[in-house]
Amino acid sequence: MSILVTGGAGYIGTHTVIELQAAGYEVVVVDNLSNSSEKSLERVEEITGKPVSFYKVDLLDENGLEEVFKKEKIDSCIHFAGLKAVGESVEKPWEYYNNNLSGTLVLLKLLKKYNAKNIIFSSSATVYGKPAVIPITEECPKGEATNPYGHTKSMLEQILTDIQKADSEWNVILLRYFNPIGAHKSGKIGENPSGIPNNLMPYITQVAVGKLKCLGVFGNDYDTPDGTGVRDYIHVVDLARGHVKALKKIEEKAGLCIYNLGTGTGYSVLDLVKNFKEATGVDIPYEIKPRRAGDIDACYADASKAEREIGWKAEYGIREMCEDSWRWQSMNPKGYE
Ligand code: NAD
Ligand code: UFG
Repeated sequence: MSILVTGGAGYIGTHTVIELQAAGYEVVVVDNLSNSSEKSLERVEEITGKPVSFYKVDLLDENGLEEVFKKEKIDSCIHFAGLKAVGESVEKPWEYYNNNLSGTLVLLKLLKKYNAKNIIFSSSATVYGKPAVIPITEECPKGEATNPYGHTKSMLEQILTDIQKADSEWNVILLRYFNPIGAHKSGKIGENPSGIPNNLMPYITQVAVGKLKCLGVFGNDYDTPDGTGVRDYIHVVDLARGHVKALKKIEEKAGLCIYNLGTGTGYSVLDLVKNFKEATGVDIPYEIKPRRAGDIDACYADASKAEREIGWKAEYGIREMCEDSWRWQSMNPKGYE
């Protein structure tokens, strides 16, 4: 029996494929390569020494996707595939709703048809909006998303919840990721944004490698100790391992479960700049810029539910996150090119 990993050529997907294979799972990857390249999977094979069964298919292509279900014995799915750029989603809402919602609906139809009613969904702390309590527990009510990307995550959580409620044969695990950074220790795979990065760590590493001149810090008047935004950065390998734990929960019959995947510690933008310098020796020039629309002061997890229920806890700290992000970027200044 195999685990279908949609979006498995992407940043979190590649790291998860490695952890799944290490845990003994057979993995089948489906990706349309809209935000990734097949090279990332070649690197995964270099790391693990095992072939990855890969299909270049768009989730919106139902016939193409069904061929995969016909060929492979799919038992469960880890569903990463989706568009994820917040700013772009404001410019192209139709594309985001179509890709993320319709793609998932096609996938769910086939998972049901082929009796593989087990899904782990990549959700996000963005569903909490401006959180009512910090640290954020899973009981914290969902908030108002500030952009179409966030709406797709919130809507898909609802769709999956309703489907599980109507048919208890489904096992649905919603994983709400905080801010994944870092890379595999080998330096062979990592985050590879196209164009100018929207997110903080890839921006920092591109300044460090000389591709960008100076980091813009979006606001220093937030209600945080140093005025810059505070987030819960989590090493992508820890995040990947959370999916393996979630699969075990599915094997024990999960029903519907929701888990925050974060470390529980918040770091500000300036903390990250400082820790990056300490870990790598590289100074990051920065200037204070106006706030970015839609940003909140602080967001970090209470991740104790995942520890209690699935035995998962983040192991890596901020130093390893910085070291590993930098190893990937410095070994691959042009990403997978
Ligand atoms: P990524 O862009 O690196 O990976 C997503 C992959 O999905 C890409 O390889 C892309 O080509 C593929 N894809 C997109 N639409 C597809 C479609 N219609 N059919 C087939 N493949 C398709 O992103 P990531 O950072 O690895 O994120 C993975 C998931 O986790 C996404 O759903 C994202 O929204 C979610 N998430 C990411 C973060 C983050 O900060 N990286 C935070 C919270 C949640
Ligand atoms: N920031 C800067 N300069 C930059 C980029 C970011 O100062 O060039 C600041 C932001 O203002 C924020 C912090 O760095 O305070 C983190 O910003 P990111 O863009 O890296 O991350 P966000 O928390 O805004 O959002 C990310 C993903 C979302 C996801 C969310 C929660 O982009 O998709 O984490 O998982 F929903």
